[in-house]
Parts: sequence; structure tokens; C-alpha cells
Amino acid sequence: MKLKLRIWRQSDADAKGRMVAYELDDVSEDASFLEMLDVLNERLIAEGGDPVAFDHDCREGICGSCSLVIDGQPHGPQGATTTCQLHMRKFKDGDSIDVEPWRAGAFPVIKDLVVDRSAFDRIIQAGGYISAPTGTAPDAHAAPIPKEDADAAFSAAACIGCGACVAACPNGSGMLFMAAKVAHLGLVPQGQPERRTRVLGMVAAHDEAGFGGCTNTGECAAACPKEIGLDVIGRLNRDFRKAAVRAA
Ligand code: FES
Repeated sequence: MKLKLRIWRQSDADAKGRMVAYELDDVSEDASFLEMLDVLNERLIAEGGDPVAFDHDCREGICGSCSLVIDGQPHGPQGATTTCQLHMRKFKDGDSIDVEPWRAGAFPVIKDLVVDRSAFDRIIQAGGYISAPTGTAPDAHAAPIPKEDADAAFSAAACIGCGACVAACPNGSGMLFMAAKVAHLGLVPQGQPERRTRVLGMVAAHDEAGFGGCTNTGECAAACPKEIGLDVIGRLNRDFRKAAVRAA
């Protein structure tokens, strides 16, 4: 298939970026979106040009590294799919495709399509962990957890921290990411000792990093490749209110 690409090129964090047009012939519909970019980069390198910088690691939909806005949609047009799992068969021969980095104040562009997502790391450092010794797998299995809670915790734990929720949100909010972590840890007994300090610390780190607040537009959940639901934000708000009252 033939494709016309318009890709955001920005040489460094301080440079002014712009969309640059490229054309590709003979793209396999079985190629992933990242493999299609690999083909473009091989051509650019062969021509002595600068390859397009983009993030990736696992290419299996589990690491959360790949972070492209494709035709205005984080991770592109296929629901519940990361960019690395998106295949070119989703597009048509002759299509024009715009490719941009995540657009959010808390995720500054480093180069081309690569953004700095260390703000998410700071939120995790502020409380996204447990310190209780959990022993080995048999010990974990010995802790009784209601199935409903275990299932909800597991669903929240599916968050891969890609940042699509932030890129989709008109407020640039990281609430869905943060709420998934708070729900995941707050639903299991091992997460209870730090439950209050966790939510207070993570919300403070979120706000300090410059993420916006949630106004319930739901764009985050619609863009999430792991289908994390808005219910986790409700849980975060309940936990935060309780923790703030007790801390007052
Ligand atoms: S490269 Fe790991 S989720 Fe896409």
C-alpha cells in the first residue's frame, strides 16, 4: 500500500517543531505501525537523513513506551490497542496519516515523537508501591481476597502507564493513570498500611507535575489501550477525601 505521512519533527526540546511530509510505497498491510516507521527510518538513514525518533520497547502492548498520536487519536484509530499492536491493515491504500507526539504540558517533547514521561515516575515514587513484606507466591495465595476485589485490582493493574489518558484529556490530566495505581493497591490487603499516605502523596505529585484536574469528559478511558474505566477515578476521589479529612 502507498501512504502519505505527515510526521512531527523537532530536533530537541527547545526547537520549534513542524509537520514534515513523507511518502512510502509498498508498505505491507501486515506490518505494525512501528515497523512501517522502521521502514521509513531505514530509507532516511540510507539517504543520509535524520531518522524519526520514537519510543518503543516491548512491541507487545505491555511496556507502555510507544506513544504516538495518530490522526489525532492517542495510539490511533483502533480501540484497546497500543501503537505497537496497531497494524497497517487498519488503513487504506493512499491514506494520509498524521503522526504526532503526546501533547501535554507535563510531557515535554524531547525529540520528534519522544516525550519526557518522568512525571509519571514521580507520581509512582510518591506512593505507588507497598512496603509490606508479601512473601512468595504461595504466601500471596494464602491471603484471602474477595473475588470481586481481586478482579477489580487486576483490571486496574493492567494500566501500562503509556500516558494516552493524558494525551487524550483536554485538561492534560493524569487522573486515570494515578487512579488505576491507587485502585490496584488499595483493593488488596497488602496495600492497606499506606492507603492514606499513598493517595495524598500521589495527588500532590500529580498536581506538582503540572497535570490538569479531571472534569469527567471521559476521553481518557476512551483512549486507554487497556480499557481502564472511569470507576477508578471515583475510587481515587473517595480515598482522597477520606485521607484528607483524617489528615486535617
Ligand atoms: S512498545 Fe511496549 S507497549 Fe508498545
